[in-house]
Amino acid sequence: MQSFAALFSSFDSFLHLGRQLVDRIKVSQFAALPQKRAVICEEGALSVALCRVGDDVYAFEAVCPHAFKSLKGARVRGETLMCPHHGARFDLKTGALVASPAVTNINTYKVAVDGDDVFIVLDE
Ligand code: FES
Repeated sequence: MQSFAALFSSFDSFLHLGRQLVDRIKVSQFAALPQKRAVICEEGALSVALCRVGDDVYAFEAVCPHAFKSLKGARVRGETLMCPHHGARFDLKTGALVASPAVTNINTYKVAVDGDDVFIVLDE
């Protein structure tokens, strides 16, 4: 039977390992992302809209806040992402609302590209 200290140490290691495992979540292959058009990627409970512009990848919540429709197929227009349904536009880098009919920003996610793997980086 393990001592309390040994059990606590193992549990602490388990928590540390768990934290490392969820620091980032792979959501796509870089080569699979089309240029300037959003695709929806899902991994577990996470659903994100990914948009590639050159070598950069931007990630947003997958649903437009205007009518709660998918951002699948949203297009890049200048420095904005334009919803394919009614044309609301959001800043590519910040998710800030640029043009109605939406009235709120969209959430963005931090992205990391490692080789051909695209990750969503989770906040600490
Ligand atoms: S659902 Fe996006 S602008 Fe209406």
